Amino acid sequence: MLSKKFLEKFKALYRKKTGKDLPGIDALDLDTQMTTLVKAIYKPTTKEEDEFVQKIRLNLFCTIAEEVNRQFKLDIHSLHGIHHWVHVREMGFYLAQTIGADFQVVDLFSTLHDSQRENEDYDPNHGFRAAEYVQTLFTKGLLPIDKKQLGQLKFACAYHSERNTQSNDITIQTCWDADRLDLGRVGVVPHPNRLCTDAARSKEVLKWADGRAGFRVVPGFVKDEWGIELGSQ
Ligand SMILES: [Fe+2]
Repeated sequence: MLSKKFLEKFKALYRKKTGKDLPGIDALDLDTQMTTLVKAIYKPTTKEEDEFVQKIRLNLFCTIAEEVNRQFKLDIHSLHGIHHWVHVREMGFYLAQTIGADFQVVDLFSTLHDSQRENEDYDPNHGFRAAEYVQTLFTKGLLPIDKKQLGQLKFACAYHSERNTQSNDITIQTCWDADRLDLGRVGVVPHPNRLCTDAARSKEVLKWADGRAGFRVVPGFVKDEWGIELGSQ
């Protein structure tokens, strides 16, 4: 049961924020309501629930990766192919967990942002074409995201390789940083000034990302779930 003192404080705060008195509520009601709210928001996840969420995410990634691969003009094992998608996803998930970005947008960005590349070098419009492709997939009902996420994903794809574009959106920043953290695959260490988030700029993360990119480390699920031996390419 909440204390009387806390209840009075809460009522005063409610009055201050809304300009109204809290109607017909006693300490027990408030206690019950707040406990329910806290349980709903902060419910700890069990190992099984966590594994279930990871499985759903992996299914989405695999489904979209297959869809992208059906129309991909480059070799699946090229510099902008599946190794890169997997690494961007991995870096992106680490950053998303650290700074609170949207996992689903980051997940989809990893497979889609380079999906419309026509070559491995200078291809200035590939980001904009990727944004159009995202819209096409969304219209077909293949992307389980809402309008806000669609906007974030399209913007992140469209401008991911533009030099001077900025965004205050933490999810878009995460997408761009995850992509840049995989520059080690072409022997480039991303300059901290070209990264958007402090999490990506940390020395530990730069070193970790560079090691995985440079040595083409591939997470176990690629082989376990897909049966693809990326390391042999
Ligand atoms: Fe990329």
